[in-house]
Order: sequence, then C-alpha cells, then structure tokens
Amino acid sequence: MKHVLSLNDVLAQIEVQVRPHFGKGQPAQYIPELARVDRTKFGMAVCMLKPGDTRGSYAVEESVLGDADEPFSAQSITKLFSLALALNRKGDEVWERVGKEPSGTPFNYLSQLEHEEGVPRNPFINAGALAVSDMLLDVVTEPDALVRDFMGFLGAARLTIDESVAASEIDHAHKNRAIANLMKTFGTMTHEVETVIEAYCRQCAVAISCRELARAALPLAAAGFSPIVEESVFAPRMVRRLNALLLTCGIYDSVGSFAYRVGLPAKSGVGGGIVAIVPGQASVAVWAPELDRFGTSVVGGYALESFSQIMNCSVL
Ligand code: DON
Repeated sequence: MKHVLSLNDVLAQIEVQVRPHFGKGQPAQYIPELARVDRTKFGMAVCMLKPGDTRGSYAVEESVLGDADEPFSAQSITKLFSLALALNRKGDEVWERVGKEPSGTPFNYLSQLEHEEGVPRNPFINAGALAVSDMLLDVVTEPDALVRDFMGFLGAARLTIDESVAASEIDHAHKNRAIANLMKTFGTMTHEVETVIEAYCRQCAVAISCRELARAALPLAAAGFSPIVEESVFAPRMVRRLNALLLTCGIYDSVGSFAYRVGLPAKSGVGGGIVAIVPGQASVAVWAPELDRFGTSVVGGYALESFSQIMNCSVL
C-alpha cells in the first residue's frame, strides 16, 4: 500500500468525496429503533499495521474521522465474530451445519433455505447466523454476551447490548422466526426457536464505535495477531478462511459489485456499519446509516471505495 499522503489527509480527502452521496439511501426501516437513527452520521476509523518489536508482531497507527467514537448498532457485523467463536469452539463441525458459498439472495431470504433442506448457504446470511447462534447455545447460555465480550476484548472496549434495539428487533423478527421455524422443520436447528431468536437479535444489538470495530477486526489483517491485546487471537489459517468468506459472502447479493468497486474482504450491517480488511496492512471501519436496497451503507461503500483507490490496496 504505497501512499504519500498522511492517513489523516487520506481521511480528509474521503470526507470530501463522500459528501454528494448522502441522501441516496435510508436507514433500516424494518427494525423501528434503527429507523430513528440520525441519517447524517458518518464515522470512519483506520488501524494501519506497523512492524512490531518482535518477529511476527505488529504495532498500530490509528486515524479517525467524524463520528468514529460514537457507538452504532453492529447488526450483521457481529456475525463475523460469532462465526470465529463457533469455529474456535466447534471446529470443522460448523461446516456440517452451514455452507461456504455465496447465496446470491438477500440476507433474510427464505425459499432458498427450503430448497436446500434447511442448510444455510453460508454463515453470514441470517439463516447461517441463526445456525451459528444455535451452535453457540450448545456451549454457553448467553451467546450474545459471549459475542459482545469477545468484540469488546478485541476492540479494547467495554461494549453493551442496546436493549431498546434488541427489544425492537425481537418484536419485529417475523422473517427470522420464519427462517428458524423452517430450519426446525428440517431438523437443522437444535434449540428452541425463541431462544435462538433472542440470542441472535441481542447479539445484533451490540453497540460499537468505528474505532473499536477497526481495532476488533485488526487481527484479520495481521495473520491473527492483535496489536491491541498484544497476542495472537486467531490461527493464521482461520484468518485466511474468514477473509475468504468475507470476500465471497460478506455483502450478500451485492458482494460482486462490492468486490468490483472496493476489492476488500468486508462485512456490512443494517446499522450502517461496514468493516473491511486489507490483509497484511490495515483494518477499516465506517458508519453511515443510510442503506442501499441490499442493506449496505451507501456512504460507507463510497468511503471504502475511495480508501481502496487512494491507498491502491484492493486485494484483486
Ligand atoms: O437479522 C436481521 O435482519 C438483522 N439483525 C441483521 C441484518 C443485517 O445487518 C444485514 N446486513 N446488512
């Protein structure tokens, strides 16, 4: 990643470039508490890796923009961390319950799941994430708290679950209940539907800032090493696999155009956040609540596109 500008100059340039793209989308409407979020918010945080003191270790340079320290609803971004936890606890057994292929369908699509007999295409669509919550319920009673604390540990933050967002989603989780019920009929969900729905919706309601999220995702850029907690948190092989899933499935049915425009493994959430990985170099988190029809932040997508262009850091 060759660049002559300072990281702060890069972010200042991005702020100007994204300005015309406000007003092109709208905050998630199907979760009432998210529909009320201030749509003018915009934050961005970059954690850039530097060589550390010892071999294989890294240090970090951070740079932030706008509302980067304001917590927002992580939503589907949490699916990355719940998957990492499930892989740690259950290993390859996870892949007996969910696939690794892009779905080509919206994140909450139902009929593909019926067609494929209750086995979700990948762990990032809602069906797959519900299966992951179901698996985590085998090992802990509150997977949502486990995910919250794991993200907080990696992000050096004390994170909370936004109780009003959680309650709002649990009240309106009709589609997710349909997905979970369908899996129940195929015998691909072990725990009670309502228990899984509650764990999943509460996990999605984890509140995190861009700065904390960029820190939490940094091990995925650093072969599993976290310069924040100063230890290795993932095996390099797991990092490669998670990044492969992000690149192919992280942005649902617009993952192809996202790869075309940005060229980085990334995960979106309907809270308006996107986290992206520049392997070996950096992690980037953006937040802007207005979404496109695929549930991805419009301004966030443009911000990452600008970042990738200015830094010339597409992996493709
Ligand atoms: O299950 C849902 O619908 C939300 N809790 C999460 C969806 C989401 O964030 C999709 N990502 N863009």
